[in-house]
Amino acid sequence: MIGIGGGITGDVSAFAASIFKRGINFISIPTTLLAQVDAAIGGKTGVNTKQGKNLIGTFSQPRLVISDTSFLKSLSKKEMVCGYAEILKHALIKDNKFFNWLKLNSKHIFLKNQKKLIYAIKKSCEIKLFFVNKDVNEKNLRMTLNFGHTFAHAIEVKNNYSKNVTHGEAVLSGMMIETKLSLVKKICTLKTLKDLEKIYNQNNLFYTFEKYLNIKNIKKLVPYVKNDKKNDDEKINFILIRKIGKTAPPNKNKITIIQLKKYISNFNKY
Ligand SMILES: NC(=O)c1ccc[n+]([C@@H]2O[C@H](COP(=O)([O-])OP(=O)(O)OC[C@H]3O[C@@H](n4cnc5c(N)ncnc54)[C@H](O)[C@@H]3O)[C@@H](O)[C@H]2O)c1
Ligand SMILES: [Zn+2]
Repeated sequence: MIGIGGGITGDVSAFAASIFKRGINFISIPTTLLAQVDAAIGGKTGVNTKQGKNLIGTFSQPRLVISDTSFLKSLSKKEMVCGYAEILKHALIKDNKFFNWLKLNSKHIFLKNQKKLIYAIKKSCEIKLFFVNKDVNEKNLRMTLNFGHTFAHAIEVKNNYSKNVTHGEAVLSGMMIETKLSLVKKICTLKTLKDLEKIYNQNNLFYTFEKYLNIKNIKKLVPYVKNDKKNDDEKINFILIRKIGKTAPPNKNKITIIQLKKYISNFNKY
């Protein structure tokens, strides 16, 4: 089977291929930036049901992924932001040099410069695969890829997965909130937060965080954070950032709801 399309097409067709006759070969041709840098890589497949997102799925690797950047020419700005959020996440969790490259080149990504896009997509896939290959079934290290996603998930659920806030925009908000959490927990320094704010400002992405400058709005997300399926007990398992290009190890920062609320109250110091 060959799946051609965005992340949804990819996830559904890969899932079908993984269960038909107990699994047939699958080739993925992702056509959105998000699918090229994230969804098509790593072998997570699935369908959403009314019971919830990603509850039914398999781990099944494609035989081949072909990413052709000419597909991206017709992509809207909002969809470009979606993919960019995951590119930036990959730099933040693993590669300071790539982050520095993004500081200079993000504007060319949004302008769809083909050479820069190819570089960013390749780099992003390499970083994702680094984590996937070390922990295919997401028991530990692969969870690093969830940086920004605990709050992103809360934002998406609170907004009923409305198109007004895309996954990428929620991830951009989430990464900023979780960096602030890292800062109040003294896991990173103020410089990390400032570096992040700067790249958001340079690329007109700060709008994704503006609402959460008011910490009351962050607190309103807390009830939705709790239901994150990635958490295996009462505490919430956050991926926190140590510095640009490095996170704290997964499973090292499990926080109770009470603690989380206290940390959020300290956000307005920064
Ligand atoms: N399997 C994974 O590991 C993984 C990782 C991240 C995200 N995902 C999933 O991926 C999905 C999001 O992917 P997405 O952002 O690609 O969404 P999507 O598949 O909904 O595509 C976004 C929109 O772009 C359109 N589109 C696709 N290609 C286009 C092109 N070349 N030009 C113009 N428009 C185009 C689509 O029709 C759609 O309207 C979510 O369901 C998410 O759960 C999966
Ligand atoms: Zn994501």
